[in-house]
Amino acid sequence: MYKLKIISSTVRPGRKGPLVAEWIAGLAKETGDFDVEVLDLGEINLPLMNERMHPMLRKYEHEHTKKWSALIEEADAFVFVTAEYDHGYPSPLRNAIEYLVHEWAYKAAGIVSYAGISAGTRASNDLKRDLATMKMVPLTEQVNIPTFTHFINDQNEFVPNEMSVKAGQNMLKSIVRWTKGLKLIKEDQ
Ligand SMILES: Cc1cc2nc3c(=O)[nH]c(=O)nc-3n(C[C@H](O)[C@H](O)[C@H](O)COP(=O)(O)O)c2cc1C
Repeated sequence: MYKLKIISSTVRPGRKGPLVAEWIAGLAKETGDFDVEVLDLGEINLPLMNERMHPMLRKYEHEHTKKWSALIEEADAFVFVTAEYDHGYPSPLRNAIEYLVHEWAYKAAGIVSYAGISAGTRASNDLKRDLATMKMVPLTEQVNIPTFTHFINDQNEFVPNEMSVKAGQNMLKSIVRWTKGLKLIKEDQ
């Protein structure tokens, strides 16, 4: 079993990100390949990056950073669930990424984007660049959901169509494959 952390990118009250995150978490659990945890940045509530030292040094002063570092360090792989804000990915996610360096490295990163007609593809492309900078491997297989509010039912659950489910399953398969390989690279550091 691999430890998969699903990171939900938005923090505003009433955010929809956690609904999408719960959906992909459920799909991941169904595979039997992962021990799954959802990390909702709205709950984790990191302040704007306020560490004195460069994160390369891992000399964290603040309790919130130590906790965030431990959560990310123990992960084998990630799924980033990202909204599209102004044609990019939301700034709370950028902030959460820049708190750390080593903890992210040599881990596979799936992306689930949700938005209006754009399906969040601009946010996803924007995010991939920053994930690669942190030595994560952003996967080709991803899920981009257009007009995502059409898939939120009266019980406030996100229930996407078959196409998104297939895309999610493909992405999760790819995460397993890459995580096997990347473990070798990580051990060789
Ligand atoms: C600040 C802001 C910027 C947005 N920019 C975009 C955008 O560029 N493209 C888009 O399709 N939707 C955009 N939207 C609409 C979001 O897709 C929609 O509000 C979604 O629910 C945001 O995710 P959240 O609920 O998790 O915050 C924007 C929403 C907000 C609040």
